[in-house]
Amino acid sequence: MIHTSDTFGVLREYEEVVVTGGAGFVGRHLVTALSRLDKKVTVVDHAVLGEDIASLPGVRHVRADLRDYGETLLALQGADAVFHLAGNASGTLSVEKPRHDFHLNALATCNVGNASLELGVRRLVYLSSAIVYGTPQHAPIREDHPTGPFLPYGASKLSGELTLRSLHRTTGLPAVIGRSFVIYGPGEDPRQAGGEVSQFLRWHLNDLPIPVVGDIDRKTRDFIHVDDLCRALITLADRGTDGEIYNLGSGTDVSMRELAEAVTRATGRPARLEADNSSLEDSFTLVADISRLTALGFKPQVTLDAGLTALAEELGRFPELPTAKAVFRREPPPRRRLAASPGAAEAVASC
Ligand SMILES: NC(=O)c1ccc[n+]([C@@H]2O[C@H](COP(=O)([O-])OP(=O)(O)OC[C@H]3O[C@@H](n4cnc5c(N)ncnc54)[C@H](O)[C@@H]3O)[C@@H](O)[C@H]2O)c1
Repeated sequence: MIHTSDTFGVLREYEEVVVTGGAGFVGRHLVTALSRLDKKVTVVDHAVLGEDIASLPGVRHVRADLRDYGETLLALQGADAVFHLAGNASGTLSVEKPRHDFHLNALATCNVGNASLELGVRRLVYLSSAIVYGTPQHAPIREDHPTGPFLPYGASKLSGELTLRSLHRTTGLPAVIGRSFVIYGPGEDPRQAGGEVSQFLRWHLNDLPIPVVGDIDRKTRDFIHVDDLCRALITLADRGTDGEIYNLGSGTDVSMRELAEAVTRATGRPARLEADNSSLEDSFTLVADISRLTALGFKPQVTLDAGLTALAEELGRFPELPTAKAVFRREPPPRRRLAASPGAAEAVASC
């Protein structure tokens, strides 16, 4: 939890703050944190905002679709700082619907960047993802590690980054980019979230074995609690360097076996893993070098054990089971043949 006593210098000058995607998992936590820092927060999201967030002091909701430039301009006007979190966060969805993913992540980010420029926004923080690195060539990953996304989701997030950095170079857009590793904490949607922490807990709290795709020792991830992530984003808004990229993680990697052991400690009952080695595609070490972020004065505060214990309590016994799956490939669609007939152009345009 972020307290007003946390020292954020420049951020004090930003009174009006926009959080795009503020109705989503990470966004709701960030809106809560900013409200506690006495900011006037406008949530820009095309989804309905929960009453718990809408009723926080200083919070209002503008329902807008960031794929539409006019709506984006209207929604962002008056903002001193913008945290851009809206987008598709599902790799699986991006494999199934790459154009949809590109519109939500790349096009919308171009709109947010351009509108921020036109409206004179003083700081734009973009929440990107470690997915842009693709398969890591070494560990830990520094920000200058080559990018090579293997999912459309990674390509669309990278496109958003490149657009904002190019706007920074050509126009001075004050944009800072955070590349987050795996975020966990209360409020993830089990139907969409692919994060291992909440998935492991949900299976285990239903007294079921935990299915894991891949090698349980070679597959490691860097988990950052959502409270730490929000603190990191606020640190970037406060004192990140324009045009720079910062890894957002804990700096510690945890294998799937170690995560199961932590689940055992958090719940007091032995967790059982059910390994499925049919795909080893994501069985690699993924851990952030966070020295650039820590140089700004940020330090992760929530340990995995503490975060897991709190989340287990929050989920209670028999929570909804996760249905999100990691999908890396699909069959190509059947070849389309378009008849040259009246109405064909409309049919194509609506694809
Ligand atoms: N969850 C993670 O582990 C993780 C890791 C790295 C990066 N990220 C990034 O963090 C961001 C937030 O992730 P999340 O897990 O909170 O996702 P989420 O799906 O819970 O929230 C995304 C929100 O964005 C809104 N949105 C999407 N497209 C929009 C549009 N065109 N116009 C207006 N609103 C729109 C949705 O309605 C939703 O409320 C995403 O950009 C994601 O890429 C997430």
